[in-house]
Amino acid sequence: MCGIVGYIGKQTVKPVLLEGLKRLEYRGYDSAGIAVFTEEGFKVTKTTGRVAGLTRLTAREPMKGTLGISHTRWATHGGVTEANAHPHVSSDGKIALVHNGVIENYNDMKRFLKEKGYTFSSETDTEALSNLVAYHYAKEPPATNGKSRLFIAVRKALRHVEGTYGVAVMCTDYPDELIGARKGSPLIVGVGQGEYLLASDVSAIVTHTSNVVYLKDDEVVSIKRDGFQVVTTNEDGVEAKIDKISWNVEDAELGDFPHFMLKEIFDQPASLENAMRGRFSDDGSTAKFGGLNMTPRELRQIDRILFTACGTAWHACLVAEYLIERFARIPVEVEYASEFRYRNAPLDKNTLVFVITQSGETIDTLGALREAQRKGYKALAITNVVGSTIARESDGGIYQHAGPEIGVASTKAFTSQIMIAAMLALYLGRLRDMSFADGVVMVQALKSVPDYVRKILDQADRIHAIAKRYAHHADFLFLGRQAMFPIALEGALKLKEISYIHAEGYPAAEMKHGPIALISEECPSVFFAMSGENWQKVVSNIQEVKARKGKVILVHSEECPIPEDLADETIVIPEAHESIMPVLATIPVQLLSYYIAVERGCDVDKPRNLAKSVTVE
Ligand code: G6P
Repeated sequence: MCGIVGYIGKQTVKPVLLEGLKRLEYRGYDSAGIAVFTEEGFKVTKTTGRVAGLTRLTAREPMKGTLGISHTRWATHGGVTEANAHPHVSSDGKIALVHNGVIENYNDMKRFLKEKGYTFSSETDTEALSNLVAYHYAKEPPATNGKSRLFIAVRKALRHVEGTYGVAVMCTDYPDELIGARKGSPLIVGVGQGEYLLASDVSAIVTHTSNVVYLKDDEVVSIKRDGFQVVTTNEDGVEAKIDKISWNVEDAELGDFPHFMLKEIFDQPASLENAMRGRFSDDGSTAKFGGLNMTPRELRQIDRILFTACGTAWHACLVAEYLIERFARIPVEVEYASEFRYRNAPLDKNTLVFVITQSGETIDTLGALREAQRKGYKALAITNVVGSTIARESDGGIYQHAGPEIGVASTKAFTSQIMIAAMLALYLGRLRDMSFADGVVMVQALKSVPDYVRKILDQADRIHAIAKRYAHHADFLFLGRQAMFPIALEGALKLKEISYIHAEGYPAAEMKHGPIALISEECPSVFFAMSGENWQKVVSNIQEVKARKGKVILVHSEECPIPEDLADETIVIPEAHESIMPVLATIPVQLLSYYIAVERGCDVDKPRNLAKSVTVE
């Protein structure tokens, strides 16, 4: 969702900001804008649509300056219009501000500010904040205690905000100061050589510096050309810690791939390898994790695990449920984070809470984590983004090390989450009744995943050909049993996210209780059948679809004895240990949805209305 880039330093600011915004495009947005501090005052340009449009619009504008702020907006309050795009300049012309988040009490603010003579030209909540900063600025004496009047005014204004914000602010009287602040929405400070950036995430700053300060909630930073100072909205003297970013520029570049989604699908042998690196015991019989912050004895006390997340990560929770119950015999519950946080669910005292989140910033997942902690539960996180809010606030956890995921539709992050779930199932299983020998077999199986994934990726052309034959359909069903049910859900989600085709995932047997009404020649079904107890049942479900003239695309494991001519299309994946089949079965449906979306001419990496990181409720 909304992306913020601010800069103060020696470079001409316009290209720096535009490049930063380009790198934040993946977060999802519908309009963009930039404000540069120039000798003639703020130069502001905004537009609906893409950053490319903004770049064209600003091409002929000199916009000379070395301080500026910019934004990509994902509309919440007010439609997608140029007037609603950020930056918002206060009606007295003093303050320019960009904002990510939602100001819940903006109506009260607006009423108050109108009485004071401030005027409004947009429908946004953000404009209320820029005017509120201007109001406090107008009231402040010039400077106090080494803090500028601007710094103090922003701080005071933020004390009145109910809701969430990440903001970057400049003032016409301060050519050498950029202010940032956050609460609920991410904001980081990139610390370069004589230059500083403010950004929503590291991808916007990696080309400039690998030194970063992750601001915490309620912190406000004043950045000057020669240094910066962090306070909270109420207190001084916050010690800012400079961290190192582990991602590099190439990780966030397309290379030879046409889309990030395809790049990330093909990244999976490496990202899965990274999820495992250094995480097996020396005797090769179990997994080990450095950051759980729980002793084996404490983990033995757990008699229930609650997994919670949103979107694709929620599907990873469902896979975790299956794997942990199967291999560790611990009961697992799965909840949508948005439901859990408000449901006031009674939890058993020996429950461990796990959240799964690629970005570590999803607001509902963060809310669920905080709610679990408020109730006194240990809450751990599986997350990909080091230094993210959830990584910092959780009581411990497991980093995915999947590298940046730029494609809005999650691919490599999902498989790395379910890989970690399998390793966790192994680890918890070995703390209970899984034998040494079974542990060794499972470790071997997990280690073989990257090679198996390579073999499936080798079938990309074949899957592309299937996609071409099916891309024109308007509806799809995805059907699987047991651990394949969450993969069916994930397959359906991938397809609908990027190709706008209506798709539903169901447990294969549930099809008879409703979705079967959809079956016709026009509604193909994607089935999953793996060797093991249930494949005959899946075959029966396929027959039921065939009997109603439904077309079937079947993903099955090599040795699963599928009758010939059962399916219209088959995609064969390697026969492997049960614990890794969810990872393997995911790859073909990622490719299928990718190629279908491409065939339909969709903007794969920036699907309409979606955001990579959902920072509003
Ligand atoms: C958005 C993204 C999904 C993602 C979900 C949860 O909806 O488009 O791809 O699965 O948020 O995100 P998280 O960062 O918490 O995994």
